[in-house]
Amino acid sequence: MPSLVSVHGQLESHDLSAICQTAVETGRNNAFNLWVMGAPLEKVLNALVSAIETASEDLRCSIMLMNPDGKTMSSLVGPSMPKDYMQAVDGIEIGPTVGSCGASAYLRQAVVVSDIQTHPNWAPYKAICQKAGLRACWSSPIFATDGRVLGAFGMYYSAVREPTNQDLELIRIEASIASLIIEKMQASEQLSQAKRDLEQQVQKRTRELTQTNKKLREALAQRSEVQQHLLEIENLASLGSMMSSLTHEVNTPIGVAVTAASHLRGQLHKTNRLFEQNKLTRSALRAFYEESAEAMQIIERNLQRSAELVSTFKQLSLDQHNQEIRTFNLSSYVCEILLSLKPKLKYHKLQFCLDINPDLEIDSYPGAISQILVNLIMNSVQHAFEKGQPGQVHLNVTLLNGQLELKYQDNGKGMSRETLCHIFEPFFTSARQTGGSGLGLHICKDLVEKVLKGKIACQSSPGQGSQFHINFPV
Ligand SMILES: Nc1ncnc2c1ncn2[C@@H]1O[C@H](COP(=O)(O)OP(=O)(O)OP(=O)(O)O)[C@@H](O)[C@H]1O
Ligand SMILES: [Mg+2]
Repeated sequence: MPSLVSVHGQLESHDLSAICQTAVETGRNNAFNLWVMGAPLEKVLNALVSAIETASEDLRCSIMLMNPDGKTMSSLVGPSMPKDYMQAVDGIEIGPTVGSCGASAYLRQAVVVSDIQTHPNWAPYKAICQKAGLRACWSSPIFATDGRVLGAFGMYYSAVREPTNQDLELIRIEASIASLIIEKMQASEQLSQAKRDLEQQVQKRTRELTQTNKKLREALAQRSEVQQHLLEIENLASLGSMMSSLTHEVNTPIGVAVTAASHLRGQLHKTNRLFEQNKLTRSALRAFYEESAEAMQIIERNLQRSAELVSTFKQLSLDQHNQEIRTFNLSSYVCEILLSLKPKLKYHKLQFCLDINPDLEIDSYPGAISQILVNLIMNSVQHAFEKGQPGQVHLNVTLLNGQLELKYQDNGKGMSRETLCHIFEPFFTSARQTGGSGLGLHICKDLVEKVLKGKIACQSSPGQGSQFHINFPV
């Protein structure tokens, strides 16, 4: 609600006639009512001007508003002014000799022109004023509280005329009411505009944020898809390498069994021929029995070994894909893992020192343990030592109060501080060119924390090898 009190003092004037007082008050009240109702500035000032025009039959008023450039003014209201005239002065540049309104806004004081037709200020507008029936005009600048000029209030008459004190008082009062209205309404418009701008900004930012969030979600989904895919590839690759290990390992016992079987067939053939020729002696038959028993033993033992190997590899490959808990002997299990890695290790002079109690049976997740160890060993092979460089890997396992502590250590080239900070992050690798995906240690950490419910940490420095500590309950 606008405050009227501040202008009240200025409104009360003993110089004004009763009719003027009434016109001023009506105009002021109408304008304030419209303002309160939310009418636009033009309508509010129109009400003010229309009311004051009733004070005198010959009086016509206009208000020009200063443009943001501070140099030109626009025709804002002039309910009884001819349209042609209002258009002609719309946008005029203020100056010391520009009509009455342009000059008063520029000079910051009231400018009185008693005869438009003879006054130099009006020379360019003489014709249009004559046509519009405008002959005298005085104008007062409209000031803001901080002293800026907001516009000019003009009063026009159709005859040559000098203003009375009452006329000058009237224009002063009208200009100050207009000033209050313009200043307050412009401020509240600026505030609403700022609010609208802010809302638009917030909406724009929210839209951008939603878009970014969507993209992020998509990128994350894509990343976990890639991760899943890589995991599958890794599993398939380890299965493939296990198959070649199996073939290699099983080849020897089966080869031995085949040789023993064919030797046995040769002996059987030879003994049979002696028998057919009635030349089979007792001692030859005994020798045949003894050799057969030995060959059978060799065949049996080697086929047994092959069967064991097949079942070991079957278990290992099952473990790689299943994260199921079972009871197993850790020392033998680690040996099986090393066996399965034999083809991959054959070009590297790595020596493994296992310090694991051979009787240690644990209830745990062999699949997870195998994946972790394979990753650690392959990392030592790929990152810690140059090809063919001799190196040592120590694996030490202790069990204390239901906590298994697995210490894995290589004496390779170690890592810089910078590398060490990132090794567990997915896709961090120093070996991108040679096919590293940077998932190995991330998977290890995931398995230790999510499957084994434990913790993994690494200590390493350049030239000092790398040490991984893994703890988990069993
Ligand atoms: N024993 C180690 N010695 C030296 N650096 C290592 C060792 N283990 C890991 N690193 C460093 O940590 C990085 C991350 O290892 P991680 O196993 O996560 O990925 P990667 O081996 O590079 O790729 P991926 O395992 O997916 O084939 C390696 O690139 C290497 O720089
Ligand atoms: Mg790796």
